[in-house]
Formats: sequence, structure tokens, C-alpha cells
Amino acid sequence: MALDKTAQKWLEDRFKNDVRFDEPMSRHTSLKVGGPADAFVTPATREDLQRLIQWSAEAGLPFLVIGDGTNLLVKDAGIAGLVIVLTKCLNHISTTGSRTGGVLVRAMAGARLHRLCAFAISANLKGMNFALGIPGTVGGAIMMNAGTAHGWIRDVLEEITLLTPSGETQTVSKGQLDFSYRKLSLKSSTANLAPGVPTIMDGQFFLYPSDGQQLQQEAEEILRKRRESQPTHLPSAGCFFKNPVSGKPAGELIDLAGLKGKKIGGALISSEHANFIINSGGASAGDVLALMETARTAVLKMFNIELEPEVRIVGR
Ligand code: EPU
Repeated sequence: MALDKTAQKWLEDRFKNDVRFDEPMSRHTSLKVGGPADAFVTPATREDLQRLIQWSAEAGLPFLVIGDGTNLLVKDAGIAGLVIVLTKCLNHISTTGSRTGGVLVRAMAGARLHRLCAFAISANLKGMNFALGIPGTVGGAIMMNAGTAHGWIRDVLEEITLLTPSGETQTVSKGQLDFSYRKLSLKSSTANLAPGVPTIMDGQFFLYPSDGQQLQQEAEEILRKRRESQPTHLPSAGCFFKNPVSGKPAGELIDLAGLKGKKIGGALISSEHANFIINSGGASAGDVLALMETARTAVLKMFNIELEPEVRIVGR
């Protein structure tokens, strides 16, 4: 293990059962692959999270903040430093007020996106149904500007709260955020933020009063269509590649390249939707990466289109 004794002791004393060392990331990613993280920490409170991030930054230890690990491919040699999970300390969702024409809902980064969708429906609020069926947490969805054919996070997000490595929190409004396809970045006007990569703590969403029953019916229809066209019941990281900016989507290109059902080790290109790489049992990250490369090369050769992974690939 790469953590020295002092660091290990500090983590053990402070986090007790909430820290594990050499923890296999295959237990914490939806693809169910990935080697060990030096330390895997699940802070129980916001204060613990703040202290942990500050301590890691001061100690010069790299850390990776994750939600549910649903869009993550961790390499077989694992992750150097800390993995910090937000699902326990930041999971609250509440309405925070109203403004002309709508209601503001604050969702913490570690809350599951499907809970936010369900919260909106039960509060008779329209705007979140586009996200139904997207796995993972609110923080991950904001980071990725998650979206479907029905809409993107950009459409409903009003502001976010960030935690800087030095432990301060800062609110950033929509106008200071740059959204692009599957990506969120801060505009250069936010250069006054403290240095280091900030962590998203929560997002405030602007939703519209509507009819709960109608929203529920729409939700069932969206989920039904998703189940019909995607292998939602099998371990995967969702769509593996981004869709090209124009032309055919990645799934169709991989399908046309004849790769449905292609298998390397335990990794398999889904026969239901070719942009899904499935762990059909016992896959390693190496198998998934090899299959990714096979699909990328085949599409490049056949269509002269360079596919880019949507899934975040991390690890040593
Ligand atoms: N298609 C094929 N073969 C396939 C898969 C798709 O020919 O194996 C064709 C479909 O018939 C359709 C077209 O490709 O004509 C688009 O397919 P689909 O409607 O499934 O949408 P997509 O572009 O592949 C996107 C998002 C999904 C999201 C769906 C539904 C990306 C990379 N993917 O998929 O998001 O669920 O729309 O809104 O933008 C994800 O982000 O993890 C994800 C799965």
C-alpha cells in the first residue's frame, strides 16, 4: 500500500469503520471491475468530508471523489491515494423556495438521481423526468451534464455549491457554468476560486408545478422504453462512448461494424445496444479496455470516425 503509516493512522482514528484499505473498486463500480484503492473512505457527515478533503490536499495525497461509480472504469492496478464516496454524507433533497413560475429544489451531490426524479414527481414538479433511468448520483450527473433524448441537467440546474480543497464552500450560478455534451466546466470568470479541483456538494434545480399523475404516467413510459432498448439489468457503465457530434450515434456505428455479441474475456458488447459493454462475468478492466479498443478501431476503419469514451477511465 502506498499510504504511509501516519496517513493510515490518521484515517483509522478519524474514520474507524468508514475507511477501508486496499479496497477492490470492483465492489464499488457498476461495471464490477477495477483494482484496489489505497484507501476507500465514506465520510458520514459534511464536516468529516470537509476535513478529509482539506487533510488530503495538505498531505499532498491524490483523491478521487465518487458517487455510485456508475460511469467509471477503474484499471486493474487500482487507484493511488484516496477514493472518497459522497453517498452517505451528502444525500438530502428538499425544496428551498419558489420563484416566479417555479420551485427550487436542492439535492446534495451524493443523493441518487432517481430519488431526485421521484421527489419531483411526488411534489408535483415537472422538469426531472428526462433523467429517469440514468443511474448514479446528482453530483455525477451534474459533472457529466447527464442527459437523454428528453433533456439535460443544463435545462434545470440553477446553481451549484463547490467545496475547494482548502475547505471553503462557494456558490456558482448557472451563468458561470459552461455546459457541453456530457461535460461541465467553470467559466474563466470563476478564476477567483481557490486553487485545486473543487468537489460539487449540491445542485439547486428549478422545476415547474405540474400534475403528479401525468408526470408518473410519463415516467413509466420513459422507463419502459429504456428497458426495451438498453441492457439495464446487466453490469455496465451505461453508454460507453459519446455520440459523435453529427451523424450516426455510437451504438449504431458499433452495430454496423458487426460487433454486437463480440466478447473479450468476460467483457461483451451487448446484443441489445451496441454502445453498452457488459461484464458478463469475471471481466477485468483489461478485458473492457481491449474491447473498447476493438470497437474504436473497427469504427475508425469502417467510417473514419474517432469514438471517444464517455465513461471516465481512472487508475494506475
Ligand atoms: N442503434 C442501433 N444499434 C444499437 C444501438 C442503437 O442501430 O445497437 C440506433 C437506434 O436504433 C437509434 C439510434 O441508434 O436509431 C440511437 O439509439 P438510442 O435511441 O438508444 O440512443 P443513443 O444515442 O444510443 C443516447 C444516450 C443514452 C440515453 C439514450 C436515450 C449517449 C452516448 N447516449 O443513446 O445515454 O439513455 O440516448 O435517451 O448520449 C448514457 O449516457 O449512459 C446513456 C446510455
